[in-house]
Amino acid sequence: MSKKIIIMLQIGMVVFISISQFNCSGKEEKKDLSKEEMIALGKYIVTTSGCDDCHTPKIFTEFGPVFDTTRRFSGFPQGEKLPAYDVKYAAPGNWYSAEKNLTAWVGPWGISYASNLTPDNATGIGTLTEEMFIKCIREGKYMGVGRPLLPPMPWQVYGQKTDQDLKAMYAYFHSLEPIKNQVPQPTPPDKMMEILAGK
Ligand code: HEC
Repeated sequence: MSKKIIIMLQIGMVVFISISQFNCSGKEEKKDLSKEEMIALGKYIVTTSGCDDCHTPKIFTEFGPVFDTTRRFSGFPQGEKLPAYDVKYAAPGNWYSAEKNLTAWVGPWGISYASNLTPDNATGIGTLTEEMFIKCIREGKYMGVGRPLLPPMPWQVYGQKTDQDLKAMYAYFHSLEPIKNQVPQPTPPDKMMEILAGK
């Protein structure tokens, strides 16, 4: 083998080793975080992943909607009336609409209402185990075991987070003050009319 080829091979090895090490460290999960560190990590992930956009009711200011932090993550406000809407627009291929808090969504699937993610046992995710929470986000199932989650919950995106990220998010949600707010079950398309008639 010529000297040139050997040098090329050596360079190749160095590049290969650095790439493989980079990949490893990129995927490596941080181990043994304390409970407080998990909660802090979860807070960071949840705050930077847009969960507030749909799960936190809004206050209206002259500059547009802002999150109502007194009701953070409590989901579609119980008893909130939806504005009148012509259901003919909720056909497959058409646009979909949201109510003013961006917590209820009308589309060909009917009406979906963003869930209460605070740890209230009766109305939130208080009784959800960590395993159920992970299944819920990974497989898009209500409570991790039930019916398929409806749009626009982007579980297909969040489901790609690491186990540790999802566990941290769970730890964070469970560290919040529970808020009692009963979010309705989805309205099927054939029942939308009565709710959206605006009466
Ligand atoms: C674009 C709007 C939207 C965003 C953004 C969003 N969600 Fe959702 N989410 C929903 C809706 C709507 C539902 C209710 C779906 C249903 O009832 O089928 C839901 C349901 C859920 C549920 C199911 C609760 C249960 O009891 O099974 C969980 C958990 C959840 N979301 C967590 C999150 C988390 C965590 C984030 C941020 C990382 C997030 N969501 C971001 C709209 C959204």
